[in-house]
Amino acid sequence: MSSFPEMRLRRLRRTESLRRLFRETRVTVDDLILPLFVVPGQNVKQEIDSMPGTFHLSIDQLPREAEEIARLCIPAVLLFGLPENKDELGTAAYDSGGIVQRAVCELKRQVPDLVVITDVCLCQYTSHGHCGVIENGRVDNDKSVALLARTAVTHAEAGADIVAPSDMMDGRVGAIREALDDSGLSDVMIISYAAKYASAFYGPFREAADSAPQFGDRLSYQMDPANAREAIREIELDILEGADAVMVKPALCYLDVIKIARDSFSHPLAAYSVSGELAMIKAAAQKGWLDERRATLELLTALKRAGADMIVTYAAREAARWLRV
Ligand code: PBG
Repeated sequence: MSSFPEMRLRRLRRTESLRRLFRETRVTVDDLILPLFVVPGQNVKQEIDSMPGTFHLSIDQLPREAEEIARLCIPAVLLFGLPENKDELGTAAYDSGGIVQRAVCELKRQVPDLVVITDVCLCQYTSHGHCGVIENGRVDNDKSVALLARTAVTHAEAGADIVAPSDMMDGRVGAIREALDDSGLSDVMIISYAAKYASAFYGPFREAADSAPQFGDRLSYQMDPANAREAIREIELDILEGADAVMVKPALCYLDVIKIARDSFSHPLAAYSVSGELAMIKAAAQKGWLDERRATLELLTALKRAGADMIVTYAAREAARWLRV
């Protein structure tokens, strides 16, 4: 083995062509999943303050959005719904005529090839803002799981290709798989938010989705940011319960977890670059403190380098344009 001065690693970086040839990691538009927020009403296309470039969209706007997304070659969207009404049990989440269910139909009608993933959770739909139902002041795991499974089935019946439970209740992946199979929906995939942490970086999203808990916090169901070994156990359980792919969320602070997940499992792995990650870059770029394009592409590259196969990012549209050769 030679060392300096015989070996000079700067040779690998001398020209752009050499750098292209020696590049180990590539982000492509094929890796990207774009979240969409669907709201009631007509003619709504309202930018979310803390998430520049992300909009509240009414269902009538979806055909145009879907066409643009398809034109950019982004393969998939992840749908979040804001319902007309909330209640204790989050009933609007599993209403077959609910906001997400109707949005899925509309997207599938317009662009059948676009992969439609739905976020399965109750927090946008419950009056208390928790991801499950409350019993004696606490989020009741098993009752919540039953409602989440119902929600997933209605999304799949509407035409969703993939359901993505983000609630972090124990056993929900198994319950959803069983409910889908019992309903003749065995082709519908599950991407589980397997290692989802209780993160401050969800701040802008909770404003966008109107889903902040009205009392307490999510610490009794989302993971402690200090734990990585526990993430392996979470992922392992979801895989045993039938998850087709697993997700780590947030992404940027959890590159080690992405790496461990990649090294420990052969399942497809997604990373969710959350609203706070976008907000940091957007805000700094607006102040002229960061180059938005370089920072965004560096972040996405880092997630792939750590081992993610797919990336959920609000910057998917921008990235798709920047990545186009
Ligand atoms: C719903 C859900 C959340 C996010 C995705 N699904 C919020 C939360 O758990 O409080 C966060 C997404 C983001 O910040 O971009 N459970």
